[in-house]
Parts: sequence; C-alpha cells; structure tokens
Amino acid sequence: MRRCDLPVKVVLGTQWGDEGKGKLTDQMASSSDFVVRYQGGHNAGHTVVVGDESFALSLIPSGILSERARCVIGNGVVVEPGVLIKEMSSLEARGVDTSRVLISGAAHLIMPYHLELDRMTERYLGKNALGTTKRGIGPAYADKANRIGLRVQDLLDPKIFREKLDVALREKNAVLSKVYNRLPLSGKEISDLYLDEYAPKIREHIADTVNILQTAIAENKEILLEGAQATFLDLDHGTYPFVTSSSPTAGGASTGSGIGPRQIDTIVGIAKAYLTRVGAGPFPTELKDEIGDRLIEVGAEYGTVTGRRRRAGWFDAVLVRHAVKINSASEIAITKLDVLDGFESIKVCVGYKYEGEILDSVPYHQSVFHQVEPIYEELEGWMTPISSSRSLASLPKLARQYVEFLQAQLGVRISTIGVGPARDQLVSLP
Ligand code: GDP
Ligand code: IMO
Ligand code: MG
Repeated sequence: MRRCDLPVKVVLGTQWGDEGKGKLTDQMASSSDFVVRYQGGHNAGHTVVVGDESFALSLIPSGILSERARCVIGNGVVVEPGVLIKEMSSLEARGVDTSRVLISGAAHLIMPYHLELDRMTERYLGKNALGTTKRGIGPAYADKANRIGLRVQDLLDPKIFREKLDVALREKNAVLSKVYNRLPLSGKEISDLYLDEYAPKIREHIADTVNILQTAIAENKEILLEGAQATFLDLDHGTYPFVTSSSPTAGGASTGSGIGPRQIDTIVGIAKAYLTRVGAGPFPTELKDEIGDRLIEVGAEYGTVTGRRRRAGWFDAVLVRHAVKINSASEIAITKLDVLDGFESIKVCVGYKYEGEILDSVPYHQSVFHQVEPIYEELEGWMTPISSSRSLASLPKLARQYVEFLQAQLGVRISTIGVGPARDQLVSLP
C-alpha cells in the first residue's frame, strides 16, 4: 500500500508529559482535516503560541487554532462538560470558531463525585500520594472499567442519564459518607447541572465520531491524532503507580479514536531536549541542584494546568529508546533545544547502573527502576542563542552534534527541532 493511502498521523509524548505536543500538533494541523484527542481529559495542558497570544488547551484538540481542521474529542477521552463549555466560550471570546468541535458520544463523563474521590484518595494516600492533577481522571476511568460510568451520549437521554446516575450515586455516596466522612451528593443537583445547563450547550457537538473519521479516511482526508500525557505516564507502560489512568501510547491512539492500527501511517514521538516530570514517581536523571533550577527557570517549567513547579533533569535516552519501540515511532521531534543554549556542558543518560550491573534498557521491575543510577555521556554546549535558526545549517555545529548524538542513541530519525515556543520556531530536518 502506498504511503499516501494512509494519511493518518499520531503525535505523542515519549517522556513524562509537557514535551510540546500542543505546539507540534498546532503546526501539523495546518495541513490536517481532522485533529483528534484520543485519551486523557483536562489533566492535559497543551500550549499553543500564535503571534503574541498564548492558548492553554486542556480538552479541545490543539488543532482548533488552525482554521482548516475539525477537532474531535474521541471516545477514549474523559470529559468534564463544565470545563469543556468554559474552554469553548473562552476560545470564542478570543475569536476562535468552536463550531468545528465534535465530541464522541462514547466518551465518558467526569462527574462531581470523581473530583471529590480523586481529592480524597490523594489525601488518604498521604506520603504515598501520586500528585494527580485532582481533576477526577482516575476515578472516571475506574468507573468506565467498572461499567458504571456515564457517557456523553447519556446527556441526550434524560431518563437513562437519571437512571445511571442513581445507580452510580448509591455506591458513590456510601463511599463518600461512610469511608471519607463527606456529605453525600444530591442526584437532583447533578442532573439539573448536567441535563439542564450542560447538555443544551454541547448537544450539537455530540457525534458518531468513529464513523465520521472512517468516512474521512475513505475519502483520503488527513487526520492527526493528538496524545495527551506521555509514554511513561501510560497506565500499562508507565512507572506504575505513578501514572495517569489512560493509554497515551500508540495503541491508545487506535482504541481512543476508532482508527485501526493499520490505518495509521506516521507516529511522531515528541521528546524535550532535557527531561521534566510533574507529580511523584521515579526519575533517574533528576537534578536537585542549581543545574536543575536553571533548566526549570530557563525552560519556564511550571505546569500549564496546575501551575506546579516541574522536576527537571538531563535527557534520558534509555527511556526514549524504549518509547520509540513500544510506540513504533517513525520519527522523533526534539523540542526546547533552545533552553540548553547557555549550558557549557550537557549530559545525556545512555544507560543505567544497578548493583554493579550495567543496564541499557528500562528494567521492568519498579523497585530496580527506583534505584538505578544514570550513566552519562557529556557533550560540549554550543553557548549561542539558536531561537532564530530555521535550518539545520544555521544551527551551531555543537547543537547539530547534540541532535546527531540523540539520533544515534534513539535509532530513529529526528525530523524536527523546536527552538522556541512560537509557531514558526521550528527547524525541519531533511
Ligand atoms: P504539552 O503538554 O506537551 O503540549 O506541552 P506544554 O504546553 O505543557 O509545555 C510545553 C511548554 O514549552 C509550553 O510553554 C510551550 O509554549 C513551550 N515550548 C514548546 N516548544 C518549545 C520550544 O521548542 N522551545 C521553547 N523554549 N519552548 C517551547
Ligand atoms: P500533558 O498532556 C504532565 C501527571 C500528574 C500525576 C499523574 C497522574 O500536558 O503532557 P492524573 O491527574 O492524570 O491522574 O495524574 O500524571 N500528569 C501529567 N504530567 N503532563 C500532563 O499532561 C499530565 N497529565 C497528568 O502530574 O503525576
Ligand atoms: Mg502540558
């Protein structure tokens, strides 16, 4: 089958999130007919900078700022309708047309008790808390798996909605009041909010997105699937339990959109030129010194959603190599290379040491992963601003060498380099 017969691409994170998926999605959206979010919810914060305006998107696909693309919230997403409505109206207020947003009827709803349960679980975990975004993501996906979730399509059928809410609330209120000593929630208040206030505002956007996307594929339309979170936050492949509750990896792109694996052509893995993580969990290359502080300050590493200070460290090639494999990434985009402009020397983790042994891949056992020590290669920094570079040739030789070194470590082509937050601050590689 010729390549052009499969115009479906995926953009996904290869680290612990915030790699710059929003910016790259926006850039690729200019040539896409559809941009589809396939998992996660408003735990995501995807930044798109257009001119001197910055947009932080949480539920709406980052293609919304490109006029061409229709934006689909896929079946794998969990939707808090109040947040979605606010996001749409704030975009409208900034002159962005949101009539192009489609929401899968099969996407699950985040309900008020999910938020409450996320907060309570974190509180009861105490020092073992995961550091979730407290958006109700985990409890909503748990209900989906437990088959007591409410779906976006239920907003269209008040009788079914009330029935399902009733069933779910019986259990939720027992847990909230008897386990967590909280006040029970009122079913009437929730159904008034969801059915009378939210449903009329999103009704016209609810659609059979799987069929729409499959028809688009049959018509050879260009589709871009946008991942949220990242490979090492994946429920199966991440550093469990310090993960999110969905599947940001490439397999999730299929299940979360209804596009089969063989219908996908290109998988672009995004990796920051260094590494960050927000929330708890192991992080072998974390720098708790002034170099880490510098990465955070220069890279403006504060959460888009929660404002939390991120943790920072050197690029971990062992992790990204693993991500390349399990996502079958066809290319890698390296973002935020400009953040390293002022570093005299830059380290890259190429392997781990554990009890005198050398590991060149991610150990499956978390107790081992928590204790590995990074083995670094040290490279000379370029010490020149690169934010105005637009071609490989115009990058300093040492910056090119850094990228070539990463490419050799990852064993896959680096196709794009980010040199700043703006839309055009990209270098495309041949
Ligand atoms: P996402 O969650 O993967 O979409 O990433 P976030 O938007 O949470 O975080 C990435 C941050 O880096 C945002 O503030 C972007 O504007 C910014 N950014 C993206 N690419 C680049 C780049 O190449 N250089 C710099 N300096 N900033 C970038
Ligand atoms: P984007 O799409 C970075 C992290 C949280 C926490 C863990 C579980 O912007 O890259 P959750 O609320 O999902 O149950 O929290 O996952 N996390 C993210 N970290 N970027 C994100 O999204 C994240 N979404 C969730 O900090 O450690
Ligand atoms: Mg983010």
